Amino acid sequence: MPGSPGAPALVCSGVTVTVPSASGDLTLLDGIDLTLSERRTAVVGLNGSGKSTFLRLFNGLARPSSGTVTVHGTDVARDVRGARRRVGFVFTDPLSQLVMPTPVEDVELSLRGTGVPRARRRTAALQLLERVGIAHRAEHSIYDLSGGERQLAAFAAVLAVEPDVLVLDEPTTLLDLRNRGRLIELLDGLPHQLLVATHDLGLAATAPRVLVLHGGRLVADGRPGQVLPAYERWCADGFPQERAP
Ligand SMILES: Nc1ncnc2c1ncn2[C@@H]1O[C@H](COP(=O)(O)OP(=O)(O)OP(=O)(O)O)[C@@H](O)[C@H]1O
Ligand SMILES: [Mg+2]
Repeated sequence: MPGSPGAPALVCSGVTVTVPSASGDLTLLDGIDLTLSERRTAVVGLNGSGKSTFLRLFNGLARPSSGTVTVHGTDVARDVRGARRRVGFVFTDPLSQLVMPTPVEDVELSLRGTGVPRARRRTAALQLLERVGIAHRAEHSIYDLSGGERQLAAFAAVLAVEPDVLVLDEPTTLLDLRNRGRLIELLDGLPHQLLVATHDLGLAATAPRVLVLHGGRLVADGRPGQVLPAYERWCADGFPQERAP
């Protein structure tokens, strides 16, 4: 089913994700009902709270055991390729998505699927690498790059395919302060809808809407000025459902 242009970009309806384990089914996400129409949404939560699993719903890498996930009206379970055309995904581990020997070749590969003619691809790839601040490493081996440099190269390759939505899993984790600042500035100027999971509360504070996941459940959803102080308190004192009644 084709997506409808006016539909809210990202919708989860009654989404639960369970996986089998030796001791019975393990619930990774539990009863997630959300419509994300804001240009930027941040997701925070403890290690193992379900952030990456939640993000992966939108490119079909995590599948709901019940409920539905749609991207611009396209049901991800029914048309995963259609959803992936709209959603660019930047993983926490950049090596999992860089497939070519050098950054410039990787970005050129991404450009192959777009309208950029072959003769212009190298220039366009170099421009994208320049934009994310890594043109000086364009022709180095991916394996010689530092973690942060790889992360920026992966980001350039995802930007190259011009997705409508960018899903970023901890995009600042490997970056130094200068590149973190550059990335935040770059994200700020992008026209894409962004969904970002992060432990970087400064980055989360730049989004108008912040979600808190805990134990696979959505425990807070609102403006950063309200949600982030509550999250910091819960990190120190325990989350509401962990405290004695
Ligand atoms: N395929 C799987 N099988 C079993 N357990 C899984 C699977 N995928 C994820 N998990 C578990 O589900 C929980 C949520 O994982 P997830 O990667 O979504 O957490 P996260 O919030 O992104 O954590 P982090 O901040 O450490 O990146 C973790 O406890 C993880 O071990
Ligand atoms: Mg994660």
